[in-house]
Amino acid sequence: MNYEKPDYSNWISRRIPQTAGAAGGVFILLSVLSLFIKNNFVSNILRIVFAFLAAFFAFFALYMGKARRMPSYEGKKIQDKVLDNVFSYLNWNGNGKLLDIGCGSGAMTIKAAKKFPGAKIVGTDYWGIGWDYSKDQCENNARIEGVEQQVTFLKGDAANLEFPDGSFDAAVSNFVFHEVRSQPDKLALINEALRVIKPGGIFVFEDIFYAKKHYGDIEEFVRKLSENVTEIHFIDTRQCEFVPGFLRTPMVLGNMALIYGIK
Ligand SMILES: C[S@@+](CC[C@H](N)C(=O)[O-])C[C@H]1O[C@@H](n2cnc3c(N)ncnc32)[C@H](O)[C@@H]1O
Repeated sequence: MNYEKPDYSNWISRRIPQTAGAAGGVFILLSVLSLFIKNNFVSNILRIVFAFLAAFFAFFALYMGKARRMPSYEGKKIQDKVLDNVFSYLNWNGNGKLLDIGCGSGAMTIKAAKKFPGAKIVGTDYWGIGWDYSKDQCENNARIEGVEQQVTFLKGDAANLEFPDGSFDAAVSNFVFHEVRSQPDKLALINEALRVIKPGGIFVFEDIFYAKKHYGDIEEFVRKLSENVTEIHFIDTRQCEFVPGFLRTPMVLGNMALIYGIK
């Protein structure tokens, strides 16, 4: 019996509420110090600015702290429910190879291995500094979950996948494409993901597709993607009943949607 627990960490890095909290603390201190300087127009403006920034960062730190606990595996497991929802659109027989692009802590890669015991699953990520994720963590989680023979984790950039065309029967990705700094053109990025899928293979990609700064007009975006695939569907997942209203803000899950189909 294995009593070790996997560590799937959190989509929201702990640095976000910590940094906001620290900034809030600095502005509270500056607000207090500003009370000791001589009263004039400039010092009054400074007091207002410091007080405003202190309140803003304190509120943001509290919000992100709570928003971080809710999706976590120790909290309400919203992360797990979002990933289960992605899989509910993966209409795959489990024969062959599946790629998880931007696998993070391996949560979805390992879920795929458990759901499709006959399949080979590959998780790839660049494991950059923005998250508390690593390749070792993925491998350790796979070992604890008893699927280490079925999965492989590889370091790589989603913008330039190191796999030949048509290497996979299926591909999934969750909340990754908007984070890929190396490719601001998200159409090119998703076409790169589609490149490594076999013709007739299937894909399910979830991201903040309603964020205009990344995807522009999403209907037009999906129409352009449809030129390269056999079948494509767009699903608004923002209103899923497992997503608490508290998390339906643009900073967390308020822009999420899902694209799935057949190449
Ligand atoms: C919000 S996390 C999502 C992780 C995982 N897909 C999940 O749902 O648990 C975003 C992930 O994107 C990865 N990422 C960001 N830029 C990347 C890039 N250029 N290539 C590969 N992965 C990248 C990060 O390392 C991080 O693991």
